[in-house]
Amino acid sequence: AGEWILTVTAQTPTNIAVIKYWGKRDESLILPVNDSISVTLDPEHLCTTTTVAVSPSFEQDRMWLNGEEISLSGGRFQSCLREIRARATDVENKEKGIKISKKDWEKLHLHIASFNNFPTAAGLASSAAGLACLVFALGKLMNVKEDHSQLSAIARQGSGSACRSLYGGFVKWIMGKEENGSDSLAVQLADEKHWDELVIIIAVVSSRQKETSSTSGMRESVETSLLLQHRAKEVVPKRILKMEEAIQNRDFASFAGLTCADSNQFHAVCLDTCPPIFYMNDTSHRIISCVEKWNRSEEAPQIAYTFDAGPNAVLIARNRKAASLLLQRLLYYFPPSADTNMNSYVLGDKSILK
Ligand code: PMV
Repeated sequence: AGEWILTVTAQTPTNIAVIKYWGKRDESLILPVNDSISVTLDPEHLCTTTTVAVSPSFEQDRMWLNGEEISLSGGRFQSCLREIRARATDVENKEKGIKISKKDWEKLHLHIASFNNFPTAAGLASSAAGLACLVFALGKLMNVKEDHSQLSAIARQGSGSACRSLYGGFVKWIMGKEENGSDSLAVQLADEKHWDELVIIIAVVSSRQKETSSTSGMRESVETSLLLQHRAKEVVPKRILKMEEAIQNRDFASFAGLTCADSNQFHAVCLDTCPPIFYMNDTSHRIISCVEKWNRSEEAPQIAYTFDAGPNAVLIARNRKAASLLLQRLLYYFPPSADTNMNSYVLGDKSILK
């Protein structure tokens, strides 16, 4: 077979939902009960770098995360690998004298090495960036012709929120109607330059891994929460339209109002689940109270907050000025220490310290 190796490296940032995805209508295909909208962070911060390699000398598919080998046997990895392999096309590398035909990809094995530039255990969404990066890198290696939206539908089967990391800027995951999930994919609403004065600061309240995984949390909410049914049918469709408008018009007051309300409703659904799920803790609640108070002391809101399946706060400031005031206030009221239960702050976007 000859001793050659072909590699591709890709980098993908994580994304933070401002209209949340919570609940699946199909668990194996990962089809959501509502549309969601997110903002993709700057690639400098919170991103995954993945190198995929193929060689005839590899005897099986293997993967390493931050230097440690992890199992690829899970259904989600397997779905992504299967879907990408099914779309592989001929690859020719003249420099190395390598020719791989469409059929060869069925027999060739892959080695995958993935690194997060942030602590994986910090409770910050890492699966979104990870699965999006894996699918993107494999697509490049195997010369897959599908566009970003079609690739997003594959990444979705690895981790729902991953489908939104295939694009920068503001992204909508359309829930779709088809039973096979072919129209449940991500589209870009606005690129990263559209609203670049926004600054994102992440308050790492706890670095512990969450107690209830999003998969089991969603399952329990779908089975037991009436609020989830109401949210998916009556609330989110209207919010999605308003959020798209706020993003197009760079209307921060509306953007912040919708973002905070949606985060709060998602956590209300968690509380409405039987047994109830608590993702936020006292420090998270104190941050919400402070931001609400700071926003009311200004003419217009300056900060939006949103929390995923954990206690860490994602704070989105209207501009650099609002972000530096916010950081000063946070460091004063929530200095990183055991007392305040605050770990650290991460600038998710466009360093304001520059
Ligand atoms: O894609 P998952 O299974 O990690 O679920 C993500 C769920 C939330 O982060 C809470 C919301 C979202 O839309 O990202």
